[in-house]
Amino acid sequence: MILCVFNSILILKTIFMDLFDKLAERPSPLGPFTSEGYGYYTFPKLEGPLGPDMKFNGKDVTVWSINDYLGVGQNEHIRKVDTEASAKYSLSAPMGARLMTGNSDEHEALEQELADFVHKPAGFLLNFGYQGIMSVIHALVDRNDFLIYDELSHACIVDGKQLAMSESSVFKHNDIEGLERQLQRAVARMKPNSSILVITEGVFGMTGDLGKLREIVALKEKYPFRLLVDDAHGFGTLGHDGSGTGTELGCQDGIDVYFGTFAKSVALIGAFIATEPHVVDFLRANVRSQIFAKSLPFPIVVTARERIRLIRENPQWREKLWENTRKLRSGLKELGYNVLPSESPVTPVLTSGSTELCTDIMREMREKHGVFVSGVAYPVVPKGMVLIRLIPMATHTDAHIDKTLRAFEAIKPMVFQKAEVITEQV
Ligand SMILES: Cc1ncc(COP(=O)(O)O)c(C=O)c1O
Repeated sequence: MILCVFNSILILKTIFMDLFDKLAERPSPLGPFTSEGYGYYTFPKLEGPLGPDMKFNGKDVTVWSINDYLGVGQNEHIRKVDTEASAKYSLSAPMGARLMTGNSDEHEALEQELADFVHKPAGFLLNFGYQGIMSVIHALVDRNDFLIYDELSHACIVDGKQLAMSESSVFKHNDIEGLERQLQRAVARMKPNSSILVITEGVFGMTGDLGKLREIVALKEKYPFRLLVDDAHGFGTLGHDGSGTGTELGCQDGIDVYFGTFAKSVALIGAFIATEPHVVDFLRANVRSQIFAKSLPFPIVVTARERIRLIRENPQWREKLWENTRKLRSGLKELGYNVLPSESPVTPVLTSGSTELCTDIMREMREKHGVFVSGVAYPVVPKGMVLIRLIPMATHTDAHIDKTLRAFEAIKPMVFQKAEVITEQV
């Protein structure tokens, strides 16, 4: 009997592949970058105090790759608040999910302050942006509903769609006619209990262009749908008061579910939804990534409140961010670079070329010029394209910008020469 079981396991092992062995054969989307570029192109380690001046591989570099847009993460007062809150509350408390034992006045106050900031009646705190928004999408729509989203939506939206039971469809990036066709298709197939959720982003993080929120909101006159906007990069940076892309475009009221993360301009961990009070009540009881997860520790919540207060009270940080963005962009354009027409601080420099050119640019900038930039090539962008993405911060100075422009000037022969060769091949 024992021999028989042993034999059958052996047979099964010859037929089926071990899961771990299979992983070795599964290509990573980053290809050879994953292992060969580890620690340099992928998973690089920036060291030293957060800011425009950090160390990479022991070398001083000017950093253009972190999303601390307003310099909040580098603020001395905030660092004091962080320390005091940790000493007062510990990093452990409160324990448990908010539904059970992890709720507090601080958490609820933060939710209301976030909602006030983005001009919505109620807020709902999320431990993480990525899991949070996935779970919110999952909670909002059911199998009778239709979910329609922009093709360039962040991975968390695409994964949220995978979790959702609804039917989903995608429209070409910012193609309002395409969205309208999808809406017509959904309306034609709706049952009496069907609803439609449209999802897009405020700022598209790779290219920096804005979602066509005004045009999408205008479609509400013709079609019955609710709009969810992921405003990860717009929150804190756009709008006269920093309340995001909807305010910038004059249509914040038309956004039914506003999503912001702390991962960018708040320089923290956590995220939130702002919407109508009864929807927040529903989310509290239905967003599984919150219901079944420990709540954010007190120090995070306390510092988030203080950071939001500072962002609201210091519009000059936003002005400086934009001043730096303008200087950097005009300098790059004067040098002949193709800076994509971004409407946010995200500054993408596009050139044609191979993955090799992309890595050459990053290495040359870091090693020879002490400038840390990040680049993306295929498969993140189409084959033959290289995108160097710079993230200005309010804490960059003219000296940082000048140094960076000098570096871009110095690498021009390499970039343009190789770009031409590639262009001919493509
Ligand atoms: C557009 C967008 N949405 C969502 C997220 C996820 O947010 P978090 O980092 O808070 O998980 C990110 C990345 O931070 C993002 O860029």
